[in-house]
Amino acid sequence: MSTHEHQSKSGFETRAIHAGYEPDPMTGAVIPPIYATSTYKQDGVGGMRGGYEYSRSGNPTRTALEGNLAALEEGERGFAFASGLAAEDTLVRALCRPGDHAVIPDDAYGGTYRLFDKVERVWGLDHSPAPVSDVDAVRAAIRPGTTRLVWVETPTNPLLNIGDIEALAGVAHDAGALLVVDNTFASPYLQQPIPLGADIVVHSTTKYCGGHSDVVGGALVVRDLEVAEKVAFHQNSMGAVPGPFDCFLTHRGLKTLGVRMDRHCDNAEKVVAFLTGHPKVEQVIYPGLEEHPGHTVASRQMKRFGGIVSFRVTGGEQEALDVCARAEVFTLGESLGGVESLIEHPGRMTHASVAGTDLEVPADLIRLSVGIETADDLLADLDRALG
Ligand SMILES: Cc1ncc(COP(=O)(O)O)c(C=O)c1O
Repeated sequence: MSTHEHQSKSGFETRAIHAGYEPDPMTGAVIPPIYATSTYKQDGVGGMRGGYEYSRSGNPTRTALEGNLAALEEGERGFAFASGLAAEDTLVRALCRPGDHAVIPDDAYGGTYRLFDKVERVWGLDHSPAPVSDVDAVRAAIRPGTTRLVWVETPTNPLLNIGDIEALAGVAHDAGALLVVDNTFASPYLQQPIPLGADIVVHSTTKYCGGHSDVVGGALVVRDLEVAEKVAFHQNSMGAVPGPFDCFLTHRGLKTLGVRMDRHCDNAEKVVAFLTGHPKVEQVIYPGLEEHPGHTVASRQMKRFGGIVSFRVTGGEQEALDVCARAEVFTLGESLGGVESLIEHPGRMTHASVAGTDLEVPADLIRLSVGIETADDLLADLDRALG
C-alpha cells in the first residue's frame, strides 16, 4: 500500500500530522524544512530535481502544505495562496470569463462581497446575492447558461447561517455550475464539503487552519483534475503564492487542528450556555442551538458546531460597542480562529464594507471567536463586559 493510499484511509488527526510529507530522504528531517530559495539548480538544461524550477511555480515547503490540505479536505489537489482573498480571486479568474455570473451568499464575508462587487464586476463577472439557507432562493438566483459558480459559506460570517451542501451541490450541478464552499468557519475537522458534493473548497487559512493568528494565508482544494489544472495554471500565472515560512506556519497549525477545534467547540458551548438567558442579551446565534434554523442541517453535515458565537445585545449599537470595549480576555480585534479569544463589532469592523448594502449586518451584533483559554476566565470576562 502506498503512503498516499495509507494516509487516505487513516483518521483525520493521522492525516493532519503525516499527509503531504515523507521525512526528508537526505537528512530524515521529520518536519518539512523551510526552503528559503527562489530558484533551483538544474542538472543540465531542463534537468529539474523533483520538478522544481522557480518558487512561484513550486516550492517544497508549499508542496507539503498543499498535499496536507488536499488530504484533510479529501480533494484531488490542494493549492496554497498568500491570503484567502488571493485564493478566491485566483479561483474566480481560473473558472469564469467576462460575461459570466456567480451566486454569492447574501451575508458573505465582507471582503468576499467587496471582491465580487468592486473587483470581479469591473473585470466582467456579475453576481447575485442569495441566502445560503434557502435552496430555492439559490436556485432562483441562478442564470441558466451564464452562472458558472454557486458560492456559499457555511456557517456564514457573522450570522452563522447554514447551507445544505448536498442540496446546493445538486442545484449547482443541475444548472451546469460548480459549487464552491468557503469552509473557513468550520475547518476541515468539522466539515468536509467535497465528500458532500462540493467541487471546490476555499479557506482563509489565516483562521482555524493556521490557528495561532501569526500568518495570513489562503487555500483551494478541488475535487477533480480538470479544475486542478486550471487552478494550477492561474496560481502560477497570477503569482499570489505564500512564501515558505508562511507555508511552514500554516502546516504546523494544521497538525493540531483536531485538538484545537474540539476545545474551541467545548468553550463555545459554555459561552452559549452563559449568554442564553442573560438579561443584556437579546439573541444568541449558534448553529448548535436547537432553535437555530440551520440546526438540523448543521447536525447532519458538521461534526460539531464550531468556535464562533454571535449575539445581539438589548441596548442597541452603543451597548454593543461598550461591551466590546470592556472585554479584556476577549481581545478587541478582527479575524478569528486563533487560540486566543477575540471580540468584535461586525457592523463597524469586519463588515463595514457592506454597510448600506443588502448585506448590512445588525448594529447591535457582536461576534466572538471563542479561543482555547480556561473557560471560566472567558465567562467571567463576558460577565464583566456585559455589566
Ligand atoms: C469566511 C472568510 N472567507 C475568506 C476570508 C478572507 O481571507 P483572508 O483575510 O485570509 O484574505 C475571510 C477573512 O476574514 C473569512 O472570514
